[in-house]
Amino acid sequence: MARAKKATLLIKNIGQLITMDGPVPRLGDRMKDIGIIADGAVATAGGEILAVGESKEIEGRVDLAEGCRVIDAKNQVVTPGFIDPHTHPVFSKTRENEFEMRIQGKSYMEIAASGGGIRASVRDLRNSSNSQLMEKTSERLTTILSYGTTTIEAKSGYGLSTEAEIKSLEVIRDLNEVHPIDMIPTFLGAHEVPDEYRDKRDEYIKLLTDEMIPKVADEKLAEFCDIFCEEGVFDIKESRQIMSAAKKHGLKLKFHADELASSGGGELAAEMGALSADHLVYISDKGIKAMAKAGVAAVLLPGTTFSLNSKNYAPARKMIDSGVIVALSTDCNPGSSYTESLQIIVTLAALNYGMTAAEAITAMTVNSACALDRGGKIGQLKPGLPADVVLWKMNDYREMPYHYGINLAGKVIKQGKVVYE
Ligand code: NIG
Ligand code: FE
Repeated sequence: MARAKKATLLIKNIGQLITMDGPVPRLGDRMKDIGIIADGAVATAGGEILAVGESKEIEGRVDLAEGCRVIDAKNQVVTPGFIDPHTHPVFSKTRENEFEMRIQGKSYMEIAASGGGIRASVRDLRNSSNSQLMEKTSERLTTILSYGTTTIEAKSGYGLSTEAEIKSLEVIRDLNEVHPIDMIPTFLGAHEVPDEYRDKRDEYIKLLTDEMIPKVADEKLAEFCDIFCEEGVFDIKESRQIMSAAKKHGLKLKFHADELASSGGGELAAEMGALSADHLVYISDKGIKAMAKAGVAAVLLPGTTFSLNSKNYAPARKMIDSGVIVALSTDCNPGSSYTESLQIIVTLAALNYGMTAAEAITAMTVNSACALDRGGKIGQLKPGLPADVVLWKMNDYREMPYHYGINLAGKVIKQGKVVYE
């Protein structure tokens, strides 16, 4: 008989152990079920979860390996590591000047039209060396991890030339090797039309479909392809063309859709079998139905609405009630939402979407895993799954939206190792 594995890390005396055990994805009312075990314990062996249950039961059943670290949770809360399914972490300079312009009355689109916005970050990224980008991005990843997020989706999209997009994706690939956080790479060459193609956008689309997408897919630099599908950026027809090429080359699809106006992006994501459509502030009822039917996850980004100081938040409750897979994310980027913290997103989702803490935690674990095609593989505390675990400095998980603006993560464990405390 094979010898039972021994624990290399044990967290005991957990006041509320939130396992997220249950259906994947979690829809409608089921989003409230977070699988709580009172007075729980989690044991890990190497990079995997070994056992999850009541403290007494686990302590009686699990053998500890020599040198096993035992953490007394002192009645605090434990959850799976959070999963952020939408970030733009590879950039160099920040854009606080634009934030100041916005609070003085300029809109995001006005700033973009006058050469700021994404195009400003593109000029900067092209002038940044690989080592500058590695350093800046790595610092951001460390902050993300310290706030309790153990897996992120990471987009390129500030290069917009074959060379600079590949440079961005290589930064993600290389940092993935050395940084404890897990990154799932997305090619976002269709983030904007760069300056040099402003009066020949067809040529840029051709560059995307005939050169960049095939190269990124061939070199396995990305798992997903994303697009900023929006009137004034890439319209529906252009989006269909670009995303068809991505699909043909084996990339899975994600959309920035219906962020600034209702343009049919949600419907297109459903039609094309995308894994997710993100933003969705102006999604139509038809779009909601189509997404529910096709099983496309809605990645909602309340931090973006908040930071753009807009009053219009995505119709989250309507989507939850319609059976759409609802996930939450930071949209961490230098323009519209500069935060590494999913914790503040819980607060914003509570106040503006009416989502409870339980629903938000579901949206950042089980459902965000689905948005990344990893449903049931991450985002739950179950034997055999990766040991990505967070011990929170709170005794009741409902404190998360309420106690805002500080870091509540006490210890962050990635694949069985304590990486932040
Ligand atoms: O998700 N909408 C497009 N892209 C980003 C913003 C990027 C930027 O402003 O740099 C977003 O909001
Ligand atoms: Fe985004």
